[in-house]
Amino acid sequence: MNILGIESSCDETSVAIISNEYLTANLISSQDFHSKYGGVVPELSSRAHLQIVIPLVKDALKKSGLNLNDIDVICSTAGPGLIGALLVGLTFAKGLSFSLKKPFVAVNHIEGHLYSGFLMEDKPEFPFLGIVVSGGHTLLLLVESFTKIKKLGSTVDDAAGEAFDKVAKMLGLGYPGGPNIQKAAAEGNPEKIKFPIAELKEPYNFSFSGLKTSVLRYIQNNFDGSKNIPEQDLNDIAASFQNAVVRALSRNTVRALNNFEVNSISLAGGVAANKAIQEEMTKVAAKFNKKIVIPRAEFCGDNAAMIAFRGLKLFEAGYTSNLSYSPFPGLSKKHFV
Ligand code: KG4
Ligand code: ZN
Repeated sequence: MNILGIESSCDETSVAIISNEYLTANLISSQDFHSKYGGVVPELSSRAHLQIVIPLVKDALKKSGLNLNDIDVICSTAGPGLIGALLVGLTFAKGLSFSLKKPFVAVNHIEGHLYSGFLMEDKPEFPFLGIVVSGGHTLLLLVESFTKIKKLGSTVDDAAGEAFDKVAKMLGLGYPGGPNIQKAAAEGNPEKIKFPIAELKEPYNFSFSGLKTSVLRYIQNNFDGSKNIPEQDLNDIAASFQNAVVRALSRNTVRALNNFEVNSISLAGGVAANKAIQEEMTKVAAKFNKKIVIPRAEFCGDNAAMIAFRGLKLFEAGYTSNLSYSPFPGLSKKHFV
């Protein structure tokens, strides 16, 4: 069975093929040009997806030694994401499904991230604690199966990745912020500034907007604009901010591990590529004697391999989507219990 996956929710166009359970192609085209605008420009993103999606499908087929007619199921991200960007991949996938007379499966992007650990050789084991940290979401989930997900907590304001991006902007580090903060933080002292992490009524929820504001206040109170922060101070701010995100994620993870019996932990999403977060989560897992799965970088950021995999599991569970399926900007409730 050959599964074609298409991802176009934000600034990566990606096409993947899973052929008889093996990932034979995972091509990712990143729209780097957004960096000069300091963030993703939705309309430019849609146009870039439109230009690249067909060449990527052709390359993925070639790389997998397949023809279009060999594809059995077509999957595409349906949301959440930028509506215009989503429309490109989704409409293309539906068109292919119609012309090839093959089933179409709409995939929730967050569910794609959530199960991306299964793309690794050493896979998560159910039930697992899923931590999805991306540019748009921060979720703590109890995952019992491919169709049973219980939400324990989420961010009440900014997502973890969003906080990284905004703080990077304050520090003049450019977009995307996560990797740049990580680089600066590697040269800084994480204990230098004790940035606060929010304590909420709901024990598994997160809030990063107060942290973001305290970084802003610190910069305003101590420096005359972001351009005038000496390099070592900038590195210390980056390291101390990153440390606060690490503490928030690890605090809620520990709470969940104290209260729920799981067999493994799976960290996923673009922010899961962060080395400090990976190290802390690996320590937490070891303390609780749990296996932890962190996808390799290619599968942390947006990619179609995770969409093809999620689509395959949905298809195996009996789900297909009809061709009137519309993109949705928010989180689907379908598999959440
Ligand atoms: O999952 P993703 O590629 O896209 C969304 O679904 O949002 O996540 C993108 C986010 C961005 O906010 C980016 O700054 C962040 O992931 N990110 C990182 C790192 N690499 C990417 N954040 C912290 N450390 C990193 N190394
Ligand atoms: Zn994503």
